[in-house]
Amino acid sequence: QRQRLVVTRTLPQASQARLDKGFEGIDIIQWKEDRTIPRPEFLKMVKGADGILCLLTEKIDAELLDAAGPQLKVVSTMSVGFDHVNVPELESRKIALGITPGVLTEATADTTLLLVLSAARRIRESMDAVINGGWAEWSPTWLLGTQFTEKTVGIVGLGRIGVAVAKRLKAFGVQKFLYQGTRRKEGSEQEIGGEVEFVDMERLLKESDVICVCCALNDKTKNMFDYNAFSKMKKNVVFVNTARGGIVDQDGLIRALREGKIGSVGLDVTVPEPLPQDSELLKFPNCIVLPHIGSATLETRTAMSEIAINNVLSGIKGDRLPFPHDA
Ligand code: GLV
Ligand code: GLV
Repeated sequence: QRQRLVVTRTLPQASQARLDKGFEGIDIIQWKEDRTIPRPEFLKMVKGADGILCLLTEKIDAELLDAAGPQLKVVSTMSVGFDHVNVPELESRKIALGITPGVLTEATADTTLLLVLSAARRIRESMDAVINGGWAEWSPTWLLGTQFTEKTVGIVGLGRIGVAVAKRLKAFGVQKFLYQGTRRKEGSEQEIGGEVEFVDMERLLKESDVICVCCALNDKTKNMFDYNAFSKMKKNVVFVNTARGGIVDQDGLIRALREGKIGSVGLDVTVPEPLPQDSELLKFPNCIVLPHIGSATLETRTAMSEIAINNVLSGIKGDRLPFPHDA
């Protein structure tokens, strides 16, 4: 009996070519418009699917799984984050979940550094000045930012990406890392080397000159950075989030920015995405927002889509996934 694979978007070229060639015994049903599949279309298209290859823009919940039917064996998301997937629902139905870890670590760490440096060196204000005629002369006191030599960096979530961020920052002269997460990670501490300390949130907030959010969004981390947390940070702190917008209580962040409680902010993720153009968040010259491009390099996106295909093919066959979400 033929199997049915539903794919929710056109993939990067090399992976799309693989899909176009087809797989023995598998019918591929693919949404090919260059925009997120509307929910009603998705609910129709998944009917009878044995495997679903989706993106982080698709919500995978009970309604969607019901619409697919009991033959569904695997959901493969082309992302490392899976907060858009209701994992207990999948588990109770014995549906496997595949993700794309590892291959986006370097690209996402690069984006994190990009934001740390851009926020710390006031890139938005600097570029605006050049474009808008605000550049009058060289001045010894104009647009002064901060550098990292001998500074302390707090990392929330010392996973693969957190470690890659720390390694990069070390090259910029950072002396000390504080981190928070579900548990102490001695292997990661050694990999980074030097002073790396597992601390409570209070200490991380109070002592860090730079704070990088590199953790997953879940019930424990949702709105973890609220007004209260921002109020405890150093006044000149550089705060960067490249994980998920929901980890930050955005109204709390806006209030903290309005009251001058934090130095500068760099965000690659927001709530919602896309962020409306009239969001107050965009009015602060010391806040830089990028459109969720953490993993957006051709190399990385191709590697992610290849893994996503491999995961879904294994799941359809009933084999163990190469990259299950709980490895
Ligand atoms: C991107 O945000 C991902 O989770 O892969
Ligand atoms: C994601 O790859 C992480 O574990 O940080």
